Amino acid sequence: MEALALERKAEQNRELKKRIEELKKERNAIILAHYYQRDEVQEVADFRGDSFLLAQKAAQTDAEVIVFCGVHFMGESAKILAPNKTVIIPDERAGCPMADMVNVEGLKALKRQHPKAAVVTYINSSAEIKAETDICCTSANAVKVIQSVDAEEIIWVPDKNLGHYVSQYTDKKMIIWEGYCNTHDMLTVKDVIEMKAQHPNAQFVVHPECRPEVVELGDFVGSTTAIIKYCKESDCKEFIVGTEDGTGYQLRLDSPDKTFHFATKFLVCPNMKVNNLKKIVRCMETMQPQIYVPPQVAEKARLSLERMLQVK
Ligand code: 13P
Ligand code: SF4
Repeated sequence: MEALALERKAEQNRELKKRIEELKKERNAIILAHYYQRDEVQEVADFRGDSFLLAQKAAQTDAEVIVFCGVHFMGESAKILAPNKTVIIPDERAGCPMADMVNVEGLKALKRQHPKAAVVTYINSSAEIKAETDICCTSANAVKVIQSVDAEEIIWVPDKNLGHYVSQYTDKKMIIWEGYCNTHDMLTVKDVIEMKAQHPNAQFVVHPECRPEVVELGDFVGSTTAIIKYCKESDCKEFIVGTEDGTGYQLRLDSPDKTFHFATKFLVCPNMKVNNLKKIVRCMETMQPQIYVPPQVAEKARLSLERMLQVK
């Protein structure tokens, strides 16, 4: 972009940010943003986090309105955990393809085939799936959750890559659904080997939503928050990052003296990027679109999320 256009854009963003701050006060609203959001969206957030921290925050906030900048299932989880709050999202089209890879009929059929199995569901799922679930998890607590479950057999939905990772930490029999994250699953062994050759002093940090053979190459494997914490605390100064590109915002804030190379230019979740400042202003002005979860679904789904939040 040429200099003049950049300056115009910066000025527009300053105005939008000012309006957002006014609206936060008028509406008694809090903005929650996932680490995969655009930098300018993370900048206006009152709280940034991974799926687990955002769910926890939604359950605890005193604000009347939650503006959820992430993807649809995250807004839904916030509404389920905070049913008396109004939850609005900047753009209804921000979905998660992995969450859509599992359907209620398929899950019910699996439950009939394995009547003694407990259902553990990744938070990247719809409210209807959560309502058919014993306990939810996120990538931050998946191993702990699996270990906390009192059953020898586990039906795991929807992420096969995270399921494979977790299965290495339990003797329980895991029946794993074939879903995956289109973004993380794009990263290949070849990409990582090429990056390692280009940056021989860098450590490879990777999210368990990546393919098992890619995760195996990791010097560190963890959720988005765990990766950010590891990079901050490590003595190493250079990292190849195997998770979504938006994580760079918090990585650079926390570790300005370190260098981060993203493992491929394809590690961008297009769904996360549909939110922007203009849409935040619009949803806060109109209070639309709002997240609605039918009460009978929400009640059951809440149990599975609350059980997760209680796992220590
Ligand atoms: P976490 O937020 O648990 O790291 O999960 C990553 C993700 O893909 C969220 O959609
Ligand atoms: Fe879904 Fe993957 Fe995007 Fe997360 S990064 S919202 S799992 S598609």
